[in-house]
Amino acid sequence: MARGRGMTDPRILVLATGGTIAGQAGDAMRADYRPGQIGIGAYLEQAHALGIAAQFTGRQIANIGSEDIDASIWSRLYAEIDLAMRDEGIDAIIVTHGTDTAEETAFLLDLTLPSTKPVVLVGAMRPADAVGYDGMRNFANAVRVAGDPEAAGRGVLVVMGDRVHSARDVRKAQTRATEAFRGFPRESVAIVTPSRLDWFGAPWRVDEPARLEFLPLPEVPILAVYAGMSAAAAERQLAGDPPGIVVSGLGEGNMPDPVRQVLLRHARRGCLVVRASRTDEGLVDREPQDDANGFVAARALGVPKARMLTALLLANGIADPVEAQHFFDER
Ligand code: SIN
Repeated sequence: MARGRGMTDPRILVLATGGTIAGQAGDAMRADYRPGQIGIGAYLEQAHALGIAAQFTGRQIANIGSEDIDASIWSRLYAEIDLAMRDEGIDAIIVTHGTDTAEETAFLLDLTLPSTKPVVLVGAMRPADAVGYDGMRNFANAVRVAGDPEAAGRGVLVVMGDRVHSARDVRKAQTRATEAFRGFPRESVAIVTPSRLDWFGAPWRVDEPARLEFLPLPEVPILAVYAGMSAAAAERQLAGDPPGIVVSGLGEGNMPDPVRQVLLRHARRGCLVVRASRTDEGLVDREPQDDANGFVAARALGVPKARMLTALLLANGIADPVEAQHFFDER
């Protein structure tokens, strides 16, 4: 449905997928709640009642907790945004999303969409009927960002709290705090309130085409490495000879030698092996042995996003580690 406001207000397509931003507990004092309860129509009514100024078109893509996001929802989201990118009647797109997997959805869209119109993901940490609900504030901030033409050319953005993060940098770093997201290596790319937006620097991806094609993703396992891990334990996690493996490695993507031997065997059969880190953040740089081993270094990408990029590269027919490394290196 479209809801009119002033003619100069930005025309924003809002694609709702659920999450805590649309969640309800039924009682302000309850600890538990259900994500994905409020429909997008009711949500946009509330936004207008608060004076959030935009011409909204709302569409309900799903109403789920984001742990249940899947290929069919990603595919619908992508198709809607792809259409909106070419629709002269739409200035920007906002996706409301659960925070648990927001970084994966944001990065998938970031890799597969051109950077010609603002695309902003927004979520919340407290359900809509909680004391101190953060969702409407975050939504108002997202509208402020999406409505700014300067938001284009920065890839997909994630708004949480009063911070704007780039999809490539952002990760969920807290289970409960309302400032639950951090960026690495850039902490954030702007500070926002409903009435003010300050960018830290110029857009860096102006009019860039999509980096990769949106295609069905193959299953890529994460190998969770730990001290004392045996080759047998690693093999158990890698059953079925997957086309790619992301290593949640120790420190800067390290692993015990028996695990390295297992990964070498997989790399030699043509599997794309990516070394990432189980630490909270930090670079995983290439090491001299990566060339001989045929391994890729995840660089600044954390494990969930390294997995997303690996799957998308494989979907696009890129399994060569040297070619794959370029996609991990770029910003
Ligand atoms: C979810 O990811 O759907 C639940 C958690 C949240 O949105 O904060």
